[in-house]
Amino acid sequence: MDITFSHRNLLGIEGLRVDEIRSILTAAKAFREISRREIKKVPTLRGKTIINLFFEPSTRTRTSFELAAKRLSADAVNISSSTSSVTKGETLLDTARNLQAMHPNLIILRHSRAGAPHFLAKHIDAPIINAGDGAHEHPTQALLDLFTMEETLRDVKGKTIGIVGDIKHSRVARSNILLLSKMGARVTICGPPTLIPRRIEAMGVTVATDLDAILPSLDIIMMLRIQLERQERGLFPSLDEYARFYGLNRQRLNTCKENILVMHPGPVNRGVELAPDVADGGHSVILDQVENGLALRMALLYILCRGKHHDS
Ligand code: CP
Repeated sequence: MDITFSHRNLLGIEGLRVDEIRSILTAAKAFREISRREIKKVPTLRGKTIINLFFEPSTRTRTSFELAAKRLSADAVNISSSTSSVTKGETLLDTARNLQAMHPNLIILRHSRAGAPHFLAKHIDAPIINAGDGAHEHPTQALLDLFTMEETLRDVKGKTIGIVGDIKHSRVARSNILLLSKMGARVTICGPPTLIPRRIEAMGVTVATDLDAILPSLDIIMMLRIQLERQERGLFPSLDEYARFYGLNRQRLNTCKENILVMHPGPVNRGVELAPDVADGGHSVILDQVENGLALRMALLYILCRGKHHDS
């Protein structure tokens, strides 16, 4: 497989070039086929060791990285903060240095602190993948979202993509804004004013607070979960009120373009940002995102375990 990718780590979207992004998506498409086979295993990464270090809860990202490693025949080890010596006071750096002493080929880190993967990358020899750092970035989510969009729409260039909800606390929104803008899409963000970061226009997005006004213009709508775990109190009156103004229901969907794609990174709060019949309806590609996420992560493990990297 011919790969264009010159980085040691995947810490964020910012440093990636368009040809590198295209190369990751091409590899992901090839790897997706493996998961559709009866025997879902190839020897590509036999002998490699991959550590999943998750200091925050996860279903999709952690499972798909683990399955990605196993389907490529790597040895995968999962560590969560609750079952590690972090509970006894060990620091992130000490944890990582001890893991490094066991010679892993790659460490995948999810952490509540923005910049934690960048910090590790400065101190650890093994390549690092950022699996979500606080409200900062979730680069593999944005890449799998782009992969899913282009599987249906061919190219996001010139398309209008709405990202709706808790933009302020969303690493998914930030990584998607960076990636989609780089790929030539128009991004409109929408949510209550209290959940929109100040000066976000500087990232090249259009800002809206009236969901009904933007719906007819969108080719894709990405609904985001309200991240109560990252919020101070009182950023909106109630979840019911939020759903009334910013939830995507059938009535609102009927005002959208006929072939609009409905996306959500998960986990979905049904009845809040998405009505159940919309989440499960014909426009929803939420489960395609999950399937593509596994393929995309197989591609990244393959690319970063090759050892042909130059930059950080
Ligand atoms: N989209 C996403 O990151 O989901 P998890 O938190 O379940 O990994």
